[in-house]
Amino acid sequence: PKVDHALSKDLYQLMEEACNFYQAQLRQHSDKEKAQNYLEYRGLSSEVVERFNIGFAPDGWDNLLSRYRDNQGLQEKLLTAGMLIANDNGKRYDRFRDRLMFPIRDRRGRVIGFGGRVFGEGTPKYLNSPETPIFHKGNELYGLYELKLKHRNPHRALIVEGYMDVVALAQYGVDYAVASLGTSTTAEQLQLLQRSAQEVVCCYDGDRAGKEAAWRALETALPLLKPGDKLKFMFLEQGEDPDSTVRNIGKEAFEHHIEQSKSLEAFLFEKLTEDSAGDKSTLAKQAMALIEKVKDEILQNLLLENLAHKLGLNSSDELKKKFGFNSQAAKANPLGAKGLKGRGTPLRLA
Ligand code: CTP
Ligand code: MN
Ligand code: MN
Ligand code: MN
Ligand code: MN
Repeated sequence: PKVDHALSKDLYQLMEEACNFYQAQLRQHSDKEKAQNYLEYRGLSSEVVERFNIGFAPDGWDNLLSRYRDNQGLQEKLLTAGMLIANDNGKRYDRFRDRLMFPIRDRRGRVIGFGGRVFGEGTPKYLNSPETPIFHKGNELYGLYELKLKHRNPHRALIVEGYMDVVALAQYGVDYAVASLGTSTTAEQLQLLQRSAQEVVCCYDGDRAGKEAAWRALETALPLLKPGDKLKFMFLEQGEDPDSTVRNIGKEAFEHHIEQSKSLEAFLFEKLTEDSAGDKSTLAKQAMALIEKVKDEILQNLLLENLAHKLGLNSSDELKKKFGFNSQAAKANPLGAKGLKGRGTPLRLA
């Protein structure tokens, strides 16, 4: 049977074509200066634009669509891929118009979605691909493929909020950041990154939302943590994000700040101490409620010992007796925590 070769294209191929198309518009469209001026205004070098395959979706309803004018089948696939939208009358048009385009790749380097930034002010600031059969936002990390191209086995990875943060950091040589795509960081994203790097540092914007995102990441991480996992938290100056910070202070100072990141337990106890305003019983109860979520018994005991110490108690047993404790930790090892400790298993949380 005769195969329509074009129709056999899959969503990944179409996304790659769209990515190439937007990159070409940045080089040759009659309005390309608009995008190029914006890149200059944001201080992005041509090297980093190339590295992240940043492109330009020109203004207009059918810049992408018109390339598939005679192919209904592929237009339908582009609808499925989220690149076209159909209005109530069934008329199709480009989703991304008049925006700077950031292609989002999966682990294997396939383009699965885009984020498009408006030039200057305007809403939404970022327009993202919708959920599609190949794009599930909460399972992906922007920049992970690009990171892995540079470092097969990165010692450390940063999670930041935004596209611009990843790209600006890379330009300044901090080429091991990924973005959680605006949603709060999910368990899937944390696990994905923890598999890729030995140490993961959350570095959200220096504002209330960023601080809350860090706390939510901690809560998300607690049930997943295993001995040896290193999850840290870095806090930026009020009003700054990783992009502005690295531009202000440079790579060396930025990396120095990374070194100063808070360990998970430091962040946990500091936040709870702050929230409980000196009330030890509140601190104990809130801390125990969180520590209960830790599934790994070794880590759980470590945190309990730490808490007992902070409360001036002699042991976690005393703590448990005093405040009650409902452990959900998996009792996977027949030796129990004592046996493992006796074997000298390295205990690290930070
Ligand atoms: N975001 C989004 N939609 C929006 C606003 C934000 O998807 N309307 C996501 C984007 O991934 C964005 C991230 O949340 O990169 C962080 O948002 P924000 O801090 O507001 O933007 P910046 O990344 O700092 O972008 P810029 O520097 O261009 O303002
Ligand atoms: Mn699906
Ligand atoms: Mn923000
Ligand atoms: Mn930001
Ligand atoms: Mn920013």
